[in-house]
Amino acid sequence: MDFVRIFDTTLRDGEQCPGAAMSEDEKLEIAHHLAKMRVDVIEAGFPVSSPVQFQAVQRIAKEVEGPIIAGLARAMKVDIESAGKAIQPAKRKRIHTFIASSPIHMKHKLGKSPSEVLAMAREAVKISRDLVEDVEFSAEDGTRSEWEFLRELTEAVIEMGATTINIPDTVGYTTPEEYGKLFAFLRDNVKGAEKVIFSAHCHNDLGLAVANSLAAVMNGARQVECTVNGIGERAGNTAMEEIAMALKTRKDFFGIETNLETTHIARASYLVKTITGMVVQPNKAIVGANAFAHESGIHQDGVLKNRETYEIMKPETIGLKSNKMVLGRHSGRAGFKERIIKLGFDPKPDEIDSAYQRFLEIADRKKEIFDEDLVTLFSEEVRKSESDNYQLEYFHINTGSKTLPTATIRIRIGDKVHEETATGDGPVDGIFKAIDKTTGKVPLLSRLVISPVTEGTDAMAEASVTLELAGKRVVGKGSSTDIIEACGKAYIDALNRL
Ligand code: KIV
Ligand code: ZN
Repeated sequence: MDFVRIFDTTLRDGEQCPGAAMSEDEKLEIAHHLAKMRVDVIEAGFPVSSPVQFQAVQRIAKEVEGPIIAGLARAMKVDIESAGKAIQPAKRKRIHTFIASSPIHMKHKLGKSPSEVLAMAREAVKISRDLVEDVEFSAEDGTRSEWEFLRELTEAVIEMGATTINIPDTVGYTTPEEYGKLFAFLRDNVKGAEKVIFSAHCHNDLGLAVANSLAAVMNGARQVECTVNGIGERAGNTAMEEIAMALKTRKDFFGIETNLETTHIARASYLVKTITGMVVQPNKAIVGANAFAHESGIHQDGVLKNRETYEIMKPETIGLKSNKMVLGRHSGRAGFKERIIKLGFDPKPDEIDSAYQRFLEIADRKKEIFDEDLVTLFSEEVRKSESDNYQLEYFHINTGSKTLPTATIRIRIGDKVHEETATGDGPVDGIFKAIDKTTGKVPLLSRLVISPVTEGTDAMAEASVTLELAGKRVVGKGSSTDIIEACGKAYIDALNRL
């Protein structure tokens, strides 16, 4: 059956949005999960932009098997050579080169005439094809370009050997009908169009990214570029989970499939959320906390009588379990391990030992342990930084409406234990200040997000702390049934990463 390729750019366009920078290990973790989900292409980064980017793309190319690994490059020799080198270890590799084609970008950003842009595009594809067989060309700001110029440009790069033609809606300006017509126009009028795959790449400035991408698919696009949770510049990119589930749920209408294993969507969303610290709005389609929740009596009654009355997708299709309560105080280690494996982890024996101890501690405080709790708990285990230099051993908070919040903490640094007390604007501020006193470092706290993992007053909370110091920016995570402890642990995790 005809299928649409899923080109995931979470690690490139997604990472470009403010506050979403990821470490190399974090990118690897996401890339492995994307491979498990069977995305067709992973755009791993923009290698020439920094040595850190280059290294991350190269590691993904070395270690992640299955999808094509793509590296982004401007239409410049230095970029293309860097991308070619970074993706070299991959079994299946692609260079993705781009140049702007709209009058406003050519004149004001590039200072080039259309014929100069045309020549640069031809040359870029030629250099890329000398390095790899699979070359994608993007006409940046394609939707604000003159159609006739876009036709000429596309024809030229196909002649030079481009195998995928991407028409980005860089500024999220187009509408479904217009974008669909543009694809139909190019497919009908470009010489050689039948030899290449057309690709849609949309930004969500008007909230139309998914609708525009689907319109492109209806007009022949067979690759959609997207990100997990729709993260990306400004209002973000096309959300992968929305495209995949729209095509799956309405296969009767679109008549087209993807290769995606949709049961890994929930975990992908969780991973990207926790790694970037970018929360997912509760009413977000597919992966929002309320996406499968039925609140009104009429809806609940309908769902109980027949699920399909108000549910067009099953939560299990994206990897959520309908029966959520799984383990408790008396669950054994074997049952715990089996559940962790069912939740998609590949645990090492020492990780199971230490996570099981934590599970027992949590089970003492919380009667019911849900899948979401286990995912949070085990992800924390996997994330434990290699240099677990700082460890929070103890904390005590004194706070109240007429009391100056005071935190006392005990931290192990290497084999020494340090104790400090500090006051703050609130208990969380107090604990962070006490930690700073013990480490002697004063990083900038640029973001703190606390989210409940499940419902109820005994729920676990997950804290995400973003710290910046000496030009480095890291995200730390911590979870606990006590939100102050979750914040303290997240702060310590971030310090270890710094
Ligand atoms: O939005 C855009 O134009 C891009 C290109 C580099 C593909 O991200
Ligand atoms: Zn983009």
